[in-house]
Amino acid sequence: MKDRAVFVLAGGQSTRMTTGVSKLLMPLGGRFLLDYALDLAHHYASEVYTVLSSALADKFQRTGHIVIQEQAKGTGDAFICAFRCALARDPDFLSKEILVILGDTPLLEMHDLEPLMHIPLRHSASMAILGMEPPDPTGYGRLLMEGEHVRAIREEKEASTSEKAIQLCNTGVMRIHAAHAHQLIEKLFSGARSEIYLTDLVEYSDDCRMVKAPWAHCVGVNTPQEWVKAEQALQQRFRQRALHQGAILIAPEQTFFSYDTMLSRGALIYPFVYCGPGVKLGCSTIFSFSHLQHCQIHDGAQVGPFAHIREGTIIGPHSQIGNFVETKNSTFEEHSKAKHLSYIGDAMVGAHVNIGAGVITCNYDGLEKHKTHIAEHAFVGSHTCLIAPVSVGAQSTVGAGSVITKDVPPQHLALSRVAQENRPLPHGSKHLRRVLKKTK
Ligand code: UD1
Ligand code: MG
Repeated sequence: MKDRAVFVLAGGQSTRMTTGVSKLLMPLGGRFLLDYALDLAHHYASEVYTVLSSALADKFQRTGHIVIQEQAKGTGDAFICAFRCALARDPDFLSKEILVILGDTPLLEMHDLEPLMHIPLRHSASMAILGMEPPDPTGYGRLLMEGEHVRAIREEKEASTSEKAIQLCNTGVMRIHAAHAHQLIEKLFSGARSEIYLTDLVEYSDDCRMVKAPWAHCVGVNTPQEWVKAEQALQQRFRQRALHQGAILIAPEQTFFSYDTMLSRGALIYPFVYCGPGVKLGCSTIFSFSHLQHCQIHDGAQVGPFAHIREGTIIGPHSQIGNFVETKNSTFEEHSKAKHLSYIGDAMVGAHVNIGAGVITCNYDGLEKHKTHIAEHAFVGSHTCLIAPVSVGAQSTVGAGSVITKDVPPQHLALSRVAQENRPLPHGSKHLRRVLKKTK
């Protein structure tokens, strides 16, 4: 760890992505695409140098050193930027080895890199790269082999027809000793191209070894199509992990998770449930078409169908959140219910509370958010507006259709609606004439 630095190259312009957003900040499995490469990097060294464009540097907060690449002049230029930064800040840098990971290969896992990490590197002479054999090598750099050694990497743009037929490709992961790279780095500028290729290092090095990794883990994400495929591959992994953890997925292919979804054994998930980041499910049931993020659902709780469980929600044991209920920043203690058509935001809901259909916590006054407290065993009748800040005391009842602006003490009935009057219809009124005509 200590004798290694990792360079994560993420300073490119994402020109092939056509979405107008940098691919590295695109969402993938509930986080930024670049986060996967960074996680991997931090497994291999505490010294991680991430090369970013200045436009991305402000938007991306992670530990490690941020290196700004002013102009995207190629992976070779990104490497040089990181190299200079490391050289300037670490007096021991030239005695270390460098591991390079591309920011756009999010499916790589630690075990894919292990064989590469075991190749012995000679101090100032050798390097090692990770290869792959994808069924369609189009777009990747092809490895030109000489026995066991890689003689060169030929990028797609420059490859001849026979070179394009080579299946063996570059994944972009590379190990090289810093002292060796120091000797070769100037040569990277010698090409006639405007783009500086990191892959040219192989040609300048006397000894480049290669080991292969499973191609499906090594794919680069350059286009929207590749991004979709990466999301699909990650979802497959997440589903396998969920099943392995003992969750019951009625239709795994129609269930979506995030990189950090935590599921207890016995969690039962119906089709078309989406778990965004930060979801922790106990042994609970999530019915179809529910969308969850940054929430905890405890054992025995039920959610959905069609529930929107937003950040900061805690659903206590055996509580039930039903259809078309949205919750945010709210805690439900055990055995409470909000089963139909409600918005519960910034609320503390005690145990055994019943929230009727269409209840709204009016938490926002246009400037600030306010809290609603509903104590245990309270009953809030349908179509009630609770104008926060407000509290409903324990064992109280709020009559349906009320607009509650003042605290309700414990064991009280609160009613704020207009009292009903029943008046006879005037004799000969238009309505009565119409009804009588119909019933004749
Ligand atoms: C690169 C490799 C190719 C390999 C493939 C694997 C080179 C020249 N080519 O091609 O051999 O098969 O990856 O996926 O290295 N970047 C910078 N600064 C730049 C340009 C790129 O930091 O100026 C970053 C990008 O943000 C990206 C990574 O480097 O994260 C790779 O760049 P990309 O343009 O995607 O390279 P590929 O064409 O995929
Ligand atoms: Mg790429």
